[in-house]
Amino acid sequence: MIVYDTITETRSFAERTRQSGKTIGFVPTMGALHEGHLSLVRKAKQENDVVIVSIFVNPIQFNNPDDLKKYPRTLENDLNMLAAVNCDAVFNPSVQEMYPEKVEKTYDFGELANVMEGAFRPGHFNGVAVVVQKLFEITLPHKAYFGEKDYQQLQIIKALVKIEKLSPVIVACPISREKDGLARSSRNERLTPAMRAAAPYIHMVLEEARSLSTAHNAIQIINFVVAKFSDHPLLKLEYFSISDGETLQPVSGTIHPGNYGFIAVFAGEIRLIDNIRLI
Ligand code: PAJ
Repeated sequence: MIVYDTITETRSFAERTRQSGKTIGFVPTMGALHEGHLSLVRKAKQENDVVIVSIFVNPIQFNNPDDLKKYPRTLENDLNMLAAVNCDAVFNPSVQEMYPEKVEKTYDFGELANVMEGAFRPGHFNGVAVVVQKLFEITLPHKAYFGEKDYQQLQIIKALVKIEKLSPVIVACPISREKDGLARSSRNERLTPAMRAAAPYIHMVLEEARSLSTAHNAIQIINFVVAKFSDHPLLKLEYFSISDGETLQPVSGTIHPGNYGFIAVFAGEIRLIDNIRLI
């Protein structure tokens, strides 16, 4: 496995790979890798000749400076994990390498970016789109892999590809969960033991919401979920939304096939997100 930290070297590796007729699968990450990330890398390995993974904690997608400061950084362990799944190349640039100048670009994702994570984390998706477009220009992927854990991000990336007429095929990968149901996340490492023990409740409530969704309307299910968190000692609900899986616009009446439940919860200062397809 080769590790690059410059744009020039990575781009020329990608060009050579393409010139030799090989396909490139690309998995962008912010490091602190876990089994969820590896599930994307394994899928990319199955579907492409060469896999490039980027590790870059992208400052411009953090709306909370403290979250950026505390974001876990575990490069050595990340590289060991990637080598073990036969990743071919890693791009691990510095902030200066990626952003030598102030970023001015702004995208218009319309309603897709104004709900849920877009509403609660202003500027977040613009920062994600800027870095992903730049990473695509460097790694030249045929296919790029994104997790459904960050479902709204996945929809934003699909919209980015359309708006900017980018060439990679976007591959959606299912949520990887711990045995107790908690969606794997780099932020789980920061939970106290008590919070970690409480956190599977989030997925449990989503499963309950799903089992209610054929016989109840969206408002009833939202009220149910809100009540489930109203007196929880450790988990504070930020939002629960029932939305269409394509447009991400909220649903208030009968739940239809392709509707999802989306949730964000605080455990202390740690913010956890999850989602579930309802029908
Ligand atoms: P990061 O949070 O490191 O996630 C990298 C990729 O792994 C994303 O596509 C995310 O959805 C996926 N992923 C994380 N946890 C997962 C899980 N439990 N199951 C399935 N997939 C999971 O998302 C980002 O980084 C950044 O926003 C990035 C796209 C790299 C741009 O900076």
